[in-house]
Amino acid sequence: MIISRQKQLKGTITVPGDKSISHRSVMFGAISNGLTEVTGFLQGADCLSTIACFQKLGIEIENDNQKVKIYGKGLHGLQAPSGILDAGNSGTTTRLISGILAGQPFETTITGDASIQKRPMGRIMTPLSMMGASFESHAKENCAPFTIHGGNLHGIHYDSPVASAQVKSSILLAGLYADDITSVTEPQLSRNHTELMLRGFGANVLSEGTTATIHPEPELFGQKITVPGDISSAAYFIAAGLIAPNAEILIQNVGINPTRDGILKVAKAMGGKITYLNERIVSGEPVADILVESSDLAATEVSGDLIPTLIDEIPVIAVMAAFAKGTTIIKDAQELKVKESDRIAVVTDNLKAMGADITATDDGMIINGGRPLHGCQIQTHADHRIAMAFTVAGINAEGETTFDDPNCVAISYPTFYQDMLGLGK
Ligand code: S3P
Repeated sequence: MIISRQKQLKGTITVPGDKSISHRSVMFGAISNGLTEVTGFLQGADCLSTIACFQKLGIEIENDNQKVKIYGKGLHGLQAPSGILDAGNSGTTTRLISGILAGQPFETTITGDASIQKRPMGRIMTPLSMMGASFESHAKENCAPFTIHGGNLHGIHYDSPVASAQVKSSILLAGLYADDITSVTEPQLSRNHTELMLRGFGANVLSEGTTATIHPEPELFGQKITVPGDISSAAYFIAAGLIAPNAEILIQNVGINPTRDGILKVAKAMGGKITYLNERIVSGEPVADILVESSDLAATEVSGDLIPTLIDEIPVIAVMAAFAKGTTIIKDAQELKVKESDRIAVVTDNLKAMGADITATDDGMIINGGRPLHGCQIQTHADHRIAMAFTVAGINAEGETTFDDPNCVAISYPTFYQDMLGLGK
């Protein structure tokens, strides 16, 4: 894969289904009664890991690439797996499934790839242990691979030290199996797909400010779900369209849930020309088509409550900042260090290698934009979002940009390069 400057970026694009919503559709379908049918499911490696894990837990799932059918067996229908569950590269699979497994009368061992084995799991082990489950780590403490001993769970209130939808969702899912109400308060509101979708399946979930509360032992019923396009995948086309000098891109069917739309707020604050068209609600989630046009970008500050609403988009926001006039400050984003790679270090190193003026800080980055960038070989650290963010940089840089591991985009967007380069000439 060799990326070079494109004379123009024009056309219409439909990005693949939302990763967070796709994972949840399979998980919630598996523990509901009857058939759940999902269209627009993301056929990326992470979501396929979730399907494989639930198949191992005895759930029949059909996936013909058009539709995923999950034959749910109800809250208490999962079976002890024959072997170890493999979550691959997926933090969402590992952490959310652990919440469900904490409530099962059997033990399960979960592992994943080299990146997953380094990511912090103590953040779910602590609250799930407070509820009554127990954990054994088999290699590094508080990391995968680990065994969950499920048990009789108690309802708790948990003040989460991190704004993490994976932590919140794990606890809420365990709360389905508890003996009393369970609630979680976060320091800032993280994505709320679990709350919205679980309610649709029949659970009693309340959201008040940054607190979510769930009642135990609901009867959940299979649903028909249409997954909107992933704003985290649309982000690369938003950034590319704004930076490139001769661009006009219509991105169709993008989820614009306010707990996920920080990239659009930042793009607008930077002076980006963004128009929402055809706003609608699909399967309980707000959706729009988004028109993006070439813009003169100016620096901004990205911090505070905004961070959880754009946490996965920070690599591409840093790329936008490198092309913007002035100094952009990204702060309050320590969580970047524990994503698929240490995204503070990896973004900083790669942007520096392309000629940008960027400094890493403990909780973000400072970028003095406006220097011309040149192509180089990007070290992806097998992180899909690094490969995609630096494709956007490469399209707007002098010379050629290549990747040590271009195929890592298959985690969330298998046809990314074709779709992006298809807009060029
Ligand atoms: C996700 C939540 C976020 C995000 C991840 C998907 C989810 O992680 O980075 O890609 O689907 O709940 P955290 O909850 O750890 O912030």
